[in-house]
Amino acid sequence: MASGKDLTAFLPKLSDLIKREEVDVGRLVTDAIRTKGVKKILSELERELKGLGDVAMDILSSLAVGRHVLIMGPVGIGKTTLAEALAEALHISDPPYIEVACHSHMTATELTGDIDIAVALQAGLDHPLAYIPGPLVMAHGGILILDEINRLNPYSQAALLQSLQEHYVFIRGFRIRSDFLVIATSNPAEYSGVYELSEALADRMKVVEIQYPDKELLKSILSWKSNMYVEHLGVKVPDTLTEVVATFMTLVAQDGNVEVGPSIRSAIYSLTTAMSRAWLEGRDVTLNDLKREVISNMVNVIRGNFTSEAEKKDYLARKFDEAAMISRRYSRK
Ligand SMILES: Nc1ncnc2c1ncn2[C@@H]1O[C@H](COP(=O)(O)OP(=O)(O)OP(=O)(O)O)[C@@H](O)[C@H]1O
Ligand SMILES: [Mg+2]
Repeated sequence: MASGKDLTAFLPKLSDLIKREEVDVGRLVTDAIRTKGVKKILSELERELKGLGDVAMDILSSLAVGRHVLIMGPVGIGKTTLAEALAEALHISDPPYIEVACHSHMTATELTGDIDIAVALQAGLDHPLAYIPGPLVMAHGGILILDEINRLNPYSQAALLQSLQEHYVFIRGFRIRSDFLVIATSNPAEYSGVYELSEALADRMKVVEIQYPDKELLKSILSWKSNMYVEHLGVKVPDTLTEVVATFMTLVAQDGNVEVGPSIRSAIYSLTTAMSRAWLEGRDVTLNDLKREVISNMVNVIRGNFTSEAEKKDYLARKFDEAAMISRRYSRK
């Protein structure tokens, strides 16, 4: 591992940052698409995600003309994975992207970086530790992933907006050029507990929506991913289980009383933990194992017209039984 001394060698000097030149990041994206080819980019994406080729094309077409993108969609539907996989496939810089996990207490200086006055006084402004660049500065010439941008408070949104519209980041009066393209992710507005994205910021991004997959696509995603996670146990997820979960998710997602449906992530967890529990006990997995896991993994994810947790659990149990019955009928046909 590099020592602290070695690490400082990688940190830029403030005087060098101030001299930075403009970079046409849209052009870099276009060049990457030309060199690699759309087909190859999409096939690399398919190694991580299924059924998002069209959404990916929307994102690429936006980035290619220098427009920022906001991927919008419900919880656990592949937004972050999509942003990372696309930035990775484009690989316009090294590292291929800088990522920020946005949160409500994020300060503007966490995004820009700040001058450490004590170091600056002792060792000068050009000492590598006098100014450690924040992500808005680090992302110059590349892609900045702002994960869950809707959690950013208005102060950090303002710092971001300034860098997007002026292409400069201001640090205590010093002006540092920074050109980057943003791929942001967000839950839709109806998800509570988050700030609203300022109109000015939203206006600078193309919104690309990810829709809840249909049952067949869900089933193939669940089968693929859950088998991937239990492969090392030497077991295989029975098709009937993925069929029941996909049917269950579709039933719940279509229910008007449910505002936030079950996520793909929680469905994968339900299948894999049911499998590993049965493996631990040295027996075959049952529908009851799955039901238990579905309830415990999804009770904190779904939101809707429920007055208590017990009512929600009861609802999930009923929907699960309904899905199991539909799947049984379906398999007899
Ligand atoms: N279309 C898909 N194909 C394959 N896997 C998927 C798909 N959608 C989601 N997943 C899987 O579901 C999990 C959740 O994905 P991810 O974290 O990218 O979702 P997210 O939308 O960012 O969630 P959150 O809203 O919680 O941030 C990952 O394991 C991912 O691989
Ligand atoms: Mg995410």
